[in-house]
Amino acid sequence: MAASELPVGSSRVVAVSFDDRDMEIIVVHTSDGFRAYLNQCRHLPVSLDWGDGEVLDETGLYFQCRTHGALFRLSDGLCIAGPCNGKPLRPVSIRESCGFIHFLGPGEMP
Ligand code: FES
Repeated sequence: MAASELPVGSSRVVAVSFDDRDMEIIVVHTSDGFRAYLNQCRHLPVSLDWGDGEVLDETGLYFQCRTHGALFRLSDGLCIAGPCNGKPLRPVSIRESCGFIHFLGPGEMP
């Protein structure tokens, strides 16, 4: 995706395929750059959003699971409140070049 499509402070849910496996990825543009995570809560195996791509809380400082309200930090995906407190979202490796964000695949669970 084009990096210019995602201003600082915004996020997007994108559908990708790695090794013939379809998955959704959350991409967020923080003041420290782009971060990406699998769009799957650590409490239950459901998406953070309800199919509308809304994954940020009202402050825009955290991801929020819409099912039970768990909050995750944007910088490292760590859950800081809710039923999966202390568990991080699974990171996705990305690379930015020539104005585009390339998704390299899910990383190891920290
Ligand atoms: S499913 Fe996400 S907090 Fe329960």
